[in-house]
Amino acid sequence: MSDGAGAADGAGGAQAGRDRVRRRLAGSGRVLVLTGAGVSAESGIPTFRGEDGWWKQEDPTKLATQAAFDRDPSHVWEWYEYRRGLVAEAEPNPAHRALASLERSGPEVLVATQNVDDLHERAGSQAVTHIHGSIFRVRCQGCGREREDRRHPLPERPPRCDACGGLERPAVVWFGEMLPPSPIRRTGQFIDGGVDVALVIGTEASFGYIQGFARAARRAGALLVEVNPSHTVLSGVVDVRLAGPAGEILPTLFER
Ligand code: APR
Repeated sequence: MSDGAGAADGAGGAQAGRDRVRRRLAGSGRVLVLTGAGVSAESGIPTFRGEDGWWKQEDPTKLATQAAFDRDPSHVWEWYEYRRGLVAEAEPNPAHRALASLERSGPEVLVATQNVDDLHERAGSQAVTHIHGSIFRVRCQGCGREREDRRHPLPERPPRCDACGGLERPAVVWFGEMLPPSPIRRTGQFIDGGVDVALVIGTEASFGYIQGFARAARRAGALLVEVNPSHTVLSGVVDVRLAGPAGEILPTLFER
């Protein structure tokens, strides 16, 4: 059981948990949403550590590190091109759309996502910040110039920088790399402004900064809610745990 007031495992608990979150959301002015790969799973995008997860099939050190890219940029780009194709063909699911409708319905919402796909924005969410970058942006290894490139397939692989001719890499955060400062600053400032509800959706929360944001939001007064079919690092910390697919649970939380 959590050190929060009531995880919602089990049928009776589940409904009570949902009702508690709905009541709190109904009067909320500020909602923080932390999402991970699980929120895009129902759009057909594999998670990383789930059953069919990328890291079950591939060795992350061979694909998502600077060393891997320096060793074999074509191999790394082959994988990112495959993922860009999946994202380009995917559609936002009811979870993405429910979050966008929550934002339209009044409260100030910030979606801080670990996902590099653009499904939150394509569902209509305006206030979205990408902690791990974007799969449709590239950055030059030579001059550092970053640009958006949504072409699929890319005409040239690996792509080259128009400005200096340098090799371009996906503008995402790889293992062992620093996080881009602005999403961290933006999320921290949002929490400092007070939070009524913090939703942690579809993430293992394996990274300390995600756990840190969740705990800080709770200290800032938020009802901390986890939406995930499985237990995670945060399950013992949340006030309400809603066990199930985000695409099924989120629409029931925000319906007016
Ligand atoms: N709805 C909600 N949650 C789901 C669903 C679903 N339909 N399907 C799976 N999940 C949950 C899983 O139970 C798991 O807890 O989503 C989580 C996915 O966890 P990971 O695959 O570890 O993804 P994530 O937490 O986003 O990983 C963080 O790690 O590999 C890096 O950079 C990569 O951004 C990624 C980061």
